[in-house]
Amino acid sequence: MSNKSKSKNKFQAPKGMRDILPKDQPYWEKVRQVIHLSAKVFGFERIDTPILEEKELFIKGTGAYTDIVEKEMYNLTTKGRDKLVLRPEFTPAIIRAYLENGLSSLPHPVKLYSIGPIFRYGRPQKGRYRQSYQANFEVIGEQDPILDAQLIQLFFSICKKLGLKKLITQINSIGCSECRPSYRKKLTTYYRSNKKGLCSDCQRRLKQNPLRLLDCKEPKCISIAEEAPQTIDSLCDNCSNHFKGVLEYLDELEIPYILNSRLVRGLDYYTKTVFEVWPEDEDGRQISLCGGGRYDKLIKLLGKKDIPAVGFAIGLDRIINLIKEREIKIVSKSAPSVFLVQLGDLGKKKSLKLFEELQQSGLKIASSFSKNTIKTQLKLADKMNVRFALILGQKEAIDKSIIVRDMISGSQEVIPLSKIVREIKKRIKK
Ligand code: HAM
Repeated sequence: MSNKSKSKNKFQAPKGMRDILPKDQPYWEKVRQVIHLSAKVFGFERIDTPILEEKELFIKGTGAYTDIVEKEMYNLTTKGRDKLVLRPEFTPAIIRAYLENGLSSLPHPVKLYSIGPIFRYGRPQKGRYRQSYQANFEVIGEQDPILDAQLIQLFFSICKKLGLKKLITQINSIGCSECRPSYRKKLTTYYRSNKKGLCSDCQRRLKQNPLRLLDCKEPKCISIAEEAPQTIDSLCDNCSNHFKGVLEYLDELEIPYILNSRLVRGLDYYTKTVFEVWPEDEDGRQISLCGGGRYDKLIKLLGKKDIPAVGFAIGLDRIINLIKEREIKIVSKSAPSVFLVQLGDLGKKKSLKLFEELQQSGLKIASSFSKNTIKTQLKLADKMNVRFALILGQKEAIDKSIIVRDMISGSQEVIPLSKIVREIKKRIKK
C-alpha cells in the first residue's frame, strides 16, 4: 500500500511498527523454519519467556547507562504498581528464566534459543524498527572459545541455507574485570585530551561509559576514535589466549572476519569476545544482521552464581530485508495438487465432507465454496497452477462418483468417489 493511501486512514500502526502482510509471510516462514532446524542441529532447546519483564532486570542486566535503558524502553506501571517494560532484548530475560526455573542444575552447557519480538523506542529508519524480531541464542556454563566460534558458525550456516552470501564478521575482545579497568583508564585519558572535539552525547558518556565513545556514529567522534587506544593491546593473558582461540577456530571454519577495534557493542554485560556480522556490500552503512558476545559476569550479577555464558541474536527483519534486496528466491511456491469444484446444492453439500477427507489424506487441496459457476472455479484452479480439478455436481453426488479433469490436457474421466484419493495419489506420482 502506498503511503498516500495509508495516510487516509484514521488509524495507523504505531510509529516504527508495521504489519507483516500475507505477501511477506513466506519469507518469515522460511527464515523461521531454517532457524528452528539449525538450532536443533546445533543442540539448542527452545525457551519462550514473557514479552513483559520487570524494568529492574534490564537496568541491572543491560546496564543503566546504555541507550536501550536510558532512552529506548517502553515502560508501563500495572494497577498493582509493578514497573514493567516490553522486553528490549532477550538476554537478561533468558538468564532470569534460567535461574528462576532451576535450569542451572542441568548438565552444562545449557543451550537455549528463542524467537520473538523486541521493543526499542529508537528513531525509526531503514532496518531499525520500534518493534523488531530476533532469534536469540545463549550458551550457558562454559568458557571454551570454541563456543564463541560455534555461534558465528551457526549464523553463517543459517545464512548459507537462506542463500545469503558476502557477509563479514566484525570481531573484537573487550577484556574482563581484570584487564578492562586499566584499558578504561587509558581510554579516558585519551578522550579527555580530545574532549572538545566530541559530540555532546559522548562528552556526557565519557564519565559513565567511555567504551561507548568508540562506536559513536558522529563523524567528528569517528575520527577521534580512529586514533584511540585499542582494547586488544591491553588484554590480560587469559583474555588474549581466549581471543586467539576464537580466531583460530574461525580460521579453521574459513569464516571471514575482520578485527574491529572500535566494536564494543551497546550493552554493558559483555566480557572478552564481541562480534557482529554485516553485509559486505553495504558501503559504510554498517548494518548488523546479528550481534553478540561473551558475558561471563551477567549471571553472577543477576543471581550470585559465577557462571560464564556466550550468546548472540539475529535481527530477522534485517535478514528478510537483505534477502529481498538481493532478490534471493527462497520462496518455493508449491501449488496445491487438486482443486475441488462443486456445482449445485447437493454437489456443494457433499463437497464439504469430501474436502475434509481429501485434506486428511495429506493431499494439498484448494477450493472456493462461495463461487458457484464451473467457469469461475476452473479459472481459479488454473491461476493456482493446480494439476487436477475434481468436479462434483448433482449427478456425481447421486452416483457417488467424481470427475477428474487434467488441467494440462483438459481430458476428463469419471471415477468412483471411494477410489478418488488412491487414484489422485497415483496420478500425482506419475
Ligand atoms: P543487539 O546487537 O542489540 O544485541 O541486537 C541483535 C540484532 O538484533 C542486531 O544485530 C540487529 O540485527 C537486530 N536489532 C536490534 N535492534 C533492532 C531494531 N530496532 N530494528 C531492527 N533490528 C534490530 C542483543 O540484543 C543481545 N541481546 C544479543 C546477545 C544475545 N548477546 C548475548 N546474547
